[in-house]
Amino acid sequence: MNYDEVVLGRRSIRGYKREPVPKETIREVLRLAMRAPSSLNSQPWNFHVVAGEVLDRIRAGNTERNLAGVPHSREFRSGGEFTGVHRERQIGVAKQLFAAMGIAREDKEARMDWVLRGFRQFDAPAAIIVTYDRALHGGDIAPFDCGAVATGIVNAAWSKGLGCVINSQGIMQSPVVRAEAGIPDDQVIMICIAIGYPDDSFPANAVVSERKSVDEAAVFLGFDD
Ligand SMILES: Cc1cc2nc3c(=O)[nH]c(=O)nc-3n(C[C@H](O)[C@H](O)[C@H](O)COP(=O)(O)O)c2cc1C
Repeated sequence: MNYDEVVLGRRSIRGYKREPVPKETIREVLRLAMRAPSSLNSQPWNFHVVAGEVLDRIRAGNTERNLAGVPHSREFRSGGEFTGVHRERQIGVAKQLFAAMGIAREDKEARMDWVLRGFRQFDAPAAIIVTYDRALHGGDIAPFDCGAVATGIVNAAWSKGLGCVINSQGIMQSPVVRAEAGIPDDQVIMICIAIGYPDDSFPANAVVSERKSVDEAAVFLGFDD
């Protein structure tokens, strides 16, 4: 696959085959992703790759706490709820996903099932918990660098026939993740990435989310043409 095929073909995958992903394949994905640039080459990222019983315990803990109404606790500033155009885009992709899955707006049970699927890491065979070094906590640059490496992961995975979904749902109950994955205190949990072989029969996997245009996003100054 060339670069265009990877970035234009990639989409978030929320339904997986049960087939496990070999550790060596994920190592190779990480090796490629870690070519990402970072501030002053600080490479603040760490990865806790979980599968099997460890991931199952995280799924169970996340589900239990969310059903019990335990407030979400992320380890970084997550900002408030989206409003305005950002909220519109959030609703836009949710509508696309629900339409693909045949989930009606008023079907509370099906919507709850969908949310719980996220807390279960979409039943993926593996997940990568991305953390950064606590020594850099408080600045915005380490989370920025984690974003770069996360994009590298999803694209490298796609180029190898794997699917991913970057997700906050997996780390909203961060104490569960921290305890079950044995994350040391000198690291801050940033985000989670479910990874596995895409189940092509899962309707939401076909959804291609929309993007604003380059003209909406960019201004060009000082060009002759
Ligand atoms: C920081 C971040 C957090 C996300 N959290 C979730 C999540 O909790 N659940 C989910 O289903 N998708 C999540 N996503 C995936 C986005 O919804 C998805 O990337 C976006 O809608 C664009 O779709 P695409 O990845 O298919 O291009 C997250 C993505 C990012 C970058």
